[in-house]
Amino acid sequence: MRLFANRSLGFVLPLLGALAAAPAGTFRPGQPWLDTAGAPIQAHGGGILVQSNIYYWYGEDRTTRRTSVSCYASTNLCDWTREAVAFDPAHLPGDLRDRSFIERPKVIFNPRTQKYVMWFHLEQRGYHFARAGVAVGDGPAGPFTFLHALRPIPADFGFKEDDVDQQKQFGGTFRDMNLFVDEDGRAYVFYASEGNWTMYVVRLNAEFTGPETPAVRGQTWERILVRRMREAPAPFKYQGRYYLITSGCTGWTPNAADCAVADRPLGPWESRGNPCVGPGAETTFGAQSTFVLPVVGVPGGFIFMADRWNPQQLRESRYVWLPVVFKPDGSVTIPWREEWDLSAFDKR
Ligand code: GAL
Repeated sequence: MRLFANRSLGFVLPLLGALAAAPAGTFRPGQPWLDTAGAPIQAHGGGILVQSNIYYWYGEDRTTRRTSVSCYASTNLCDWTREAVAFDPAHLPGDLRDRSFIERPKVIFNPRTQKYVMWFHLEQRGYHFARAGVAVGDGPAGPFTFLHALRPIPADFGFKEDDVDQQKQFGGTFRDMNLFVDEDGRAYVFYASEGNWTMYVVRLNAEFTGPETPAVRGQTWERILVRRMREAPAPFKYQGRYYLITSGCTGWTPNAADCAVADRPLGPWESRGNPCVGPGAETTFGAQSTFVLPVVGVPGGFIFMADRWNPQQLRESRYVWLPVVFKPDGSVTIPWREEWDLSAFDKR
């Protein structure tokens, strides 16, 4: 790990302690964002893992011919050091390597196996392959080793025989996705399924490498936001309630977000409408949800992370990070801010 290679532990420890208290920088949603080496951050459709008070940001690096999974590290959420290519599509097995690409990678840590587990949307031209890709690593920056490609729920919900997504044979499609680890240590994958019409939430096995089996609907997995056509799921939990921010399905074009709430990960989930407020709210400020990050040491401090895609030049896509505001009734709003820092969470 390169992050602290030239720093003494004596320097690092007080820094970690001060993580939450001392905001070190400013977030400028939609503006260019450079890493500590001065290169534009390439972590689109990403998510963040927190380990030992270090944030690891994984996402799509779209500077290479085929998207690889990048890993950046930070202690203050503003200054990001590029650690590694965590997963290179060249390491997909032969039959997948030449035809597949990766979107929306996420990583969680499994304390039982001591492994870092990466899930992503593994896709091919036409977006009909629609599988989950799973890879495991021994450290946060990898390298991750590919394990398998799968559709977690192989059930046939009366899919058509001639379905281009081949759901009758292989089960519901797996596209936009996210991972969530609950306080009880159980992990879940949320993904747009059934041709993006319905979202699935599936509890993972003890290793976090596949679905819990046998899969029993209502007990280990569930269809949620049924026929609502939502994607880009960003789940989080606050004060015992589960929240799920999603986007509509309009490709790279931004649309209105929705925030659903539930008392359990498998639902029932109740849609509460668009949490964004102010100018640009109807297009999620020109962006699309990817993750909601609980800030370390700040109870109730959550950052909404979204991608402002540039379809002409995906590598030029920008990041829109905004603080989530909880209202007294437990609902959330996301107001626009030109710039802000972590002290925004002190002013509540
Ligand atoms: C979006 C999705 C992105 C990407 C894109 C391709 O709807 O959120 O992750 O798949 O479509 O058009």
